[in-house]
Amino acid sequence: MSGFGEYTRPPPPPGPLEYGGVKLVNDADHPFIAPGPGDIRGPCPALNTLANHGYISRNGIESPSNIVHAAMEGFNMNNDLAKFTCYAAFVVNGNLVTDLVSIGEKSAKTGPDPLDQPATIGGLNTHNVFEGDSSMTRADFYDGGDVETFNETLFQGFLEYSYRFGGGRYNLTAAGEYRYKRTQDGIETNPTFTIVAPRLFSAYSESVNPINLWVDGRQDDGQLRLDHARSFFEAARFPDDFHRAARPMSADNEAVVLSIHPIEPGANIAGVNTYTVDRNAPKLNDKCGIFEYHVNHTLRTLYPNPTGDLLDAIRANIHYFYTSVQARGCSEIFPYGRFEDGESNAYYAFPDYPEVELPEYGTFPYPPVEPLTYTDAPAPASAPAPVSTNVAPPAASATVPVTSTD
Ligand code: HEM
Repeated sequence: MSGFGEYTRPPPPPGPLEYGGVKLVNDADHPFIAPGPGDIRGPCPALNTLANHGYISRNGIESPSNIVHAAMEGFNMNNDLAKFTCYAAFVVNGNLVTDLVSIGEKSAKTGPDPLDQPATIGGLNTHNVFEGDSSMTRADFYDGGDVETFNETLFQGFLEYSYRFGGGRYNLTAAGEYRYKRTQDGIETNPTFTIVAPRLFSAYSESVNPINLWVDGRQDDGQLRLDHARSFFEAARFPDDFHRAARPMSADNEAVVLSIHPIEPGANIAGVNTYTVDRNAPKLNDKCGIFEYHVNHTLRTLYPNPTGDLLDAIRANIHYFYTSVQARGCSEIFPYGRFEDGESNAYYAFPDYPEVELPEYGTFPYPPVEPLTYTDAPAPASAPAPVSTNVAPPAASATVPVTSTD
């Protein structure tokens, strides 16, 4: 429902794609058009890309079910990961009654805010309910409050690490090192630095998404070209002739990135360099725990006592969120109670309730990368030849620093 008229229960998210293979996605039906005045863009380069190509509304205001569909259709993100990411962000940043979220700043276009609840309905830019610290190409909120603008200095770090550790491509080894560096940056310079659920999940997922979802599906080797990285991160634009991933991709290989420099959830508790592990926060591999923590802790803080349509919408959205972890054997939770029809749980009788088709777990098709013994040897001066013959050499090589700054 998006006309701000009478409330209707939000529709369920779509199931997995019927055809989940490689396909041209930068096609004639989805031309790049830069955002116009009033169009909203935000901290997620992939959602910005989907908006710039019309896979979601070009004005940057969308429903979660359409975002899930677009993430699958445009990038071949697997159904569970698309639902997990989208509903985790939507329930804390979106307007649950109108079923709309801004992919960036708060907007009146998502409809009137529910009364008497602490939730700000602030769009995906809102700090510390989903958006968080140590992004790869965006500054921390602490560093001036702008969490959405592409930051060239940070991107140069991304390139440098891709040259030093990835041989001129962004891959799992480079991801492990760069994620560690961004965490250290936060610990050392940001007194408010925190990385607990859901940021722990999103930070690691975002580290591997470019490897899983931005490598052209015909190339399909887990080695992201750096000119393509710039195209997505900076311009929010599919490279010319871009084909989506060859199969629905999860973020399961985030465990490889974590294993390179393991970290437990925590925060700076008394200024910089006071990182302290939060023993109550779920760890990265505990997706059931992350789901429960997000609902029981973050969501309930935002909506302590909803009633009426808002309560109905919250219950429905928690359930949609739950379907993203159902295949992992997680228990459904009902912190706001269930729908009751006297005989059975009416929620399950909702006519549009989808039989959840359990998608295949799209495990990463490459063997785990063994952590290497690194040296500070200078990075190569030029980029390697492209893997496939139908792509041009990485243009970004000219601007990449070739010496270590560590
Ligand atoms: C399914 C819905 C999605 C939602 C709601 C979402 C939301 C977000 C948000 C709020 C951020 C900012 C987090 C932060 O850095 O603090 C973000 C970052 C990011 N997202 Fe998404 N995202 C979605 C899908 C995707 C997809 C499909 C991809 C990849 C194809 C992707 C790739 C990324 C990357 C790489 C970043 C990190 C940017 C950086 O660190 O500089 N996201 N996303």
